[in-house]
Amino acid sequence: MSETYKRKLVEVALPLDEINAACKADKDRKTGTIRNLHKWFAPAPLPAWRALLFAALVDDPEDEEKRAYLLDVIKRLVANGADLPDDDTLAEARRIIQAQFPDGVPTVMDPFCGGGSTLVEAQRLGLPTFGSDLNPVPVLITRTLTELLPKVYGQQPLHPEMVTETGSRGKGKKAHQTGEDIFGTDENVTYSGYDGLIRDVTYYAELVRERAWEDLKDFYPCLPGETPISWLWARTAICPNPACGIETVLTTSWWLSKKKNELAWIEPQVAGKAVALEVTSGQKAGQPPAPPKAARGASFACLGCGQILTEEYLEEQGESRGLGLRMTCVVAEVGGRRIYRAPLPNEVDSTRVVPYEAWFPEITASDGGTRRRFGLDHQADLYTPRQLHTLTTLADQVALIHNEIIEEGGSVAWADAVSTTLGLALGQMARSSSALCLWRPRPSAHAKAESAFGRNDLPMMWDFAETYWRGDSVGDWCGTVRSVTRAFAYQHPWEGRVEARDARTAKSPRPALVATDPPYFDAIGYADLSDYFYVWHRRALRAVHPDLYPTVASPKSAELTAMPSHHDGDRHAARQYFIEGFTSTFRNLQSSMSPGLPMLVVYASKEQRAGAGEETRWESILSAMLAADLEITGAWPIHMTSVAKMIGVNKNMVAAYIVMVCRPRPSSSSTVSLMEFTRELRRELPSAVLALQEASVLPVDLPQAVLGPGMSIFSRHRGVLDQSGDHISVGRAMQLISTALGEILDEQQGELDPASRFAVAWWESHGWESGPFGTADQLARPQGISVNDVVIAGVAESRGGNVRLAGRGDLDRSWQPSKDAHPTAWEAVHHLVDRLIDGGGVLEAGELLEDLGPLKDQAQMLAYRLESIAARKGWSKDQERYNALIGSWSDMLAAAARRTGSLEGLF
Ligand SMILES: C[S@@+](CC[C@H](N)C(=O)[O-])C[C@H]1O[C@@H](n2cnc3c(N)ncnc32)[C@H](O)[C@@H]1O
Repeated sequence: MSETYKRKLVEVALPLDEINAACKADKDRKTGTIRNLHKWFAPAPLPAWRALLFAALVDDPEDEEKRAYLLDVIKRLVANGADLPDDDTLAEARRIIQAQFPDGVPTVMDPFCGGGSTLVEAQRLGLPTFGSDLNPVPVLITRTLTELLPKVYGQQPLHPEMVTETGSRGKGKKAHQTGEDIFGTDENVTYSGYDGLIRDVTYYAELVRERAWEDLKDFYPCLPGETPISWLWARTAICPNPACGIETVLTTSWWLSKKKNELAWIEPQVAGKAVALEVTSGQKAGQPPAPPKAARGASFACLGCGQILTEEYLEEQGESRGLGLRMTCVVAEVGGRRIYRAPLPNEVDSTRVVPYEAWFPEITASDGGTRRRFGLDHQADLYTPRQLHTLTTLADQVALIHNEIIEEGGSVAWADAVSTTLGLALGQMARSSSALCLWRPRPSAHAKAESAFGRNDLPMMWDFAETYWRGDSVGDWCGTVRSVTRAFAYQHPWEGRVEARDARTAKSPRPALVATDPPYFDAIGYADLSDYFYVWHRRALRAVHPDLYPTVASPKSAELTAMPSHHDGDRHAARQYFIEGFTSTFRNLQSSMSPGLPMLVVYASKEQRAGAGEETRWESILSAMLAADLEITGAWPIHMTSVAKMIGVNKNMVAAYIVMVCRPRPSSSSTVSLMEFTRELRRELPSAVLALQEASVLPVDLPQAVLGPGMSIFSRHRGVLDQSGDHISVGRAMQLISTALGEILDEQQGELDPASRFAVAWWESHGWESGPFGTADQLARPQGISVNDVVIAGVAESRGGNVRLAGRGDLDRSWQPSKDAHPTAWEAVHHLVDRLIDGGGVLEAGELLEDLGPLKDQAQMLAYRLESIAARKGWSKDQERYNALIGSWSDMLAAAARRTGSLEGLF
C-alpha cells in the first residue's frame, strides 16, 4: 500500500451534479464575472475551482455523516450558480479551512494561471495566492485581479463625484475645471469596496477620451445631428477578366439590418468600370441580391461580369499587390433612430489621411490562420489605418495617467490599479476595433458589431465593422471601461502575487496547494493569439509593468502546447515537445507542493466529443505526469452542459474537463509484472466503477473517469514490466484499463434478470430490428429461459416467426413494476427513458424510479451497459438517451424524494 498520507475529500467524494449545474450556469453567464476584465482563452469555470480547492484542502473525515456535511458545504458554495456564494457559507468554508491548518493556511499556486479563475476562487476562500504564466497578457489580467485590486480595496478616490447644492451628483469634474462654484465635495460620501477605484477609473477614462479627441477629431467627420455607430467595410479585388477588370467587392452578405420593419441592405450597381453601392433602408419587406461569395471556400463572382475570382487567384492578388478595402455603409443614430446610408466622399477620404503608425511592430502572423494566404500576414493588417491611429492615440493617453495620478497625490498602488485597468480596457476595446469585428444583422433587434474572438482564432474576414470609440455602442471607449470595472465586484481581496514565468521554473514563495489548468495539447495557440492584445498593453503600460514587456511581441518558443506549426508541421515532434515540457513542469512543481496536499490538474477536452484525438491528448499529459513520478489518486469528470442539451444536439458529448488529483509517488514504490498489474485491475477496478456509477458519472464519461482509478493503480508502481522486462507505456495501460472496464460491464450484465440478459444480447446483434425466432431461441436458451418467457416478461414481441425487442416507440405510460408479475431491468430502463425524454420529464420518471424498488440499481447498471454498446456501435440516438437517463438520475431521485416528502406531509 503506497498510501502514507491522509486522504483529502477530493480523493474520495465530490457532489458532481451540483458542481456541473453551477459550471453550466457560469458558462452561460456572458457578463458580470471576472471575465469582464479582459478576454483570455479557455477560462475555467469558477464554481468548479471553488469546490475543488475546498475539497483538496480538507481531509476526508472517513465518516459518512461528517463527509456528508462537508459535501453539503460544497453544494452550498456552488448553489448560486454563476453568482457568488452566500456570505455565511463562505465564512463557514473559511473557518473549516483554517481549522484544518492551525499553523496557517497554505498558498494556492497556479503556474498556468491564465485569466486567474483558480486564484480568484482561492482568495475567496481566504487563501493567499501565487500565480504565473508564460504569457504577459494573462499575467496582467491575473495580476490586476489578485495583486493590484486587493491593495486598493476600500480606498477613496482622488476625484470623488461632486455633489451640487441640490444634492444631485455632478460628472466628477473638479470645480476649477467646470469654472463653477456650485460644486463641492460631499464630506459624508464614503466609497466602499472598489467603488472609489471605479470612480477614479471612470474619471481618468473620460479624461483620456477628451484628450484623444483633440488629436483625432479631424479623422471622424460627422454630419450634424448624427452619432456614428459603425463604418462597414469590404475587401475588394480586380476582376481577372481582361474585358472587365473592375475593382469588385468581395462581400459575404449585402444585409445591413434584418430587424422587423427596419430591413436594410446594399444593392450594387455597375456602370462602366465603377461599382456603386446603393443603400436601401427602412423597408418592411424585401431582401438584398445574393452576395458574390460562393457558398464554400473563398471564391467570389465579379459584380460586373460574373467571372469567378477563385481562391488561388485571390491569394495570388493578395500576395502580389494586396487586396483593396472599400467603405460600404455608414451606420449612425439620429435622434435615437438607427440609420444606414452610403458613405460621403469626405468620410472615405478622412480614413486615408491618418498618420502612419511607424512604431507598430513587424509581427508576422504565426497562428496558421487563413489571412496569411491573402497577403495579410502582419499583425498590422488586422486594422484599418484609422483604427491603428485611434488605438495608438488612446494608448499614449493611458500611458500618461500613472504619473499624473502620482503628481496629484495618489499612491503608487492607486496609480497602478487605475492605469492598469485603463490599459486592460484598451485591450478589450481592441477586440471591437479591428478587421475581425463582424457586423451581425439580427431579426429581433438592431444589427450590431460583434467583437473578435467569438472563436479562439484570427480568421480571414472579407467584410467587417469599424466601430466608433465615442459611439455609445459596441467599441465605445467609456462603455468598455464601464464594462471592465464590472469585474471588480466578483473579486474578493486577499494577498496575491503574479509573475511572468515558464511553468518549468516557477516556484511558489511558500509551500502551496498547486492547482492548475494547463494548455490542452494543440487546442489553442495562446501566444499566437495574444499578440493581438500584447502590443496595446505594451504601448499603454510599459512603464507600469516593465517586467512584462521586454520584447516587441509575446514570448512564443517556450509555450507548452503541441502545435505542429511550431515544429515545422511535425506532429510527432510537437507531441514529444509537449510530453518532455510537461514532465519537467510536473517535476518542478513538486518542489512547491506543501507536504500532505495533492496537486490538482484540470484537463479540458478539446473536441467535446469522444474520439481518437482525445486519446493522444490524454496519453500525452498522463505520460508526462507519470514520467515526473506523480501518482494519480483521483479523477473527476466535470460537465458544463445540461442533460436537456445533450439530447439531439451534442450526441457524444464528453466531459468538458477531467480533474486529476495527484501526489508524488513514494520512493518505496517498486516495479510489478504485467500479470500482477492486470490482477490488480481485476481486483480493484469493479468497486471503483461501481462507485463512479453510483455517483451518476455519465456513461459517455465512464471510459475517461475510470482512467482515474485505473491510472492510480498503474502509477503507484515505479513501472509495469511486460514479459520481456520492458516498461509498458501509458497508452498500453490505458488500453488495459479500457478492456478491464468492458469486462466489468459484461460481468455486471451477469447480475441482470435472464430476460434482460437476453435483451442485451439481442440488441447487440439486431438493435431494434426484428429477427428470426430461431436466432432468438438460440440466445434465450443459454440464459435458462425460452422466447416465450421473454415475451411474457414484456421484453420482446414475437409475431409471424419473427422476434423484436420492446422498448422503443409507444410504451404504456401506466406501467407500474409493482403491478407487473415479471418486472425486468430492461422494461425499467426503457420506461424511464420514455417518461424522461418523451413524457413528463424528470417528475414523471422520478415517480417511476421510486416505484422500481430493488430494480433501481439493476436499471442503472443496465443503462451504463446499453450506452457502452450504443457508443461502440455508433448508435448515437440511443447513446444520447441512455446518457441523458444517467445524467438525470440524481434529479429524478430528488424529484421522487420531494414527492414522498410532500405526500408524507399530507398524512
Ligand atoms: C488553459 S489556459 C489557463 C486558463 C485559466 N485557468 C483560466 O481560467 O483563465 C493555459 C495557460 O497556460 C499558459 N502557458 C502556456 N505555456 C506555458 C508555459 N510554458 N509556462 C507557463 N504558462 C504557460 C498559457 O499562456 C495559458 O494562459
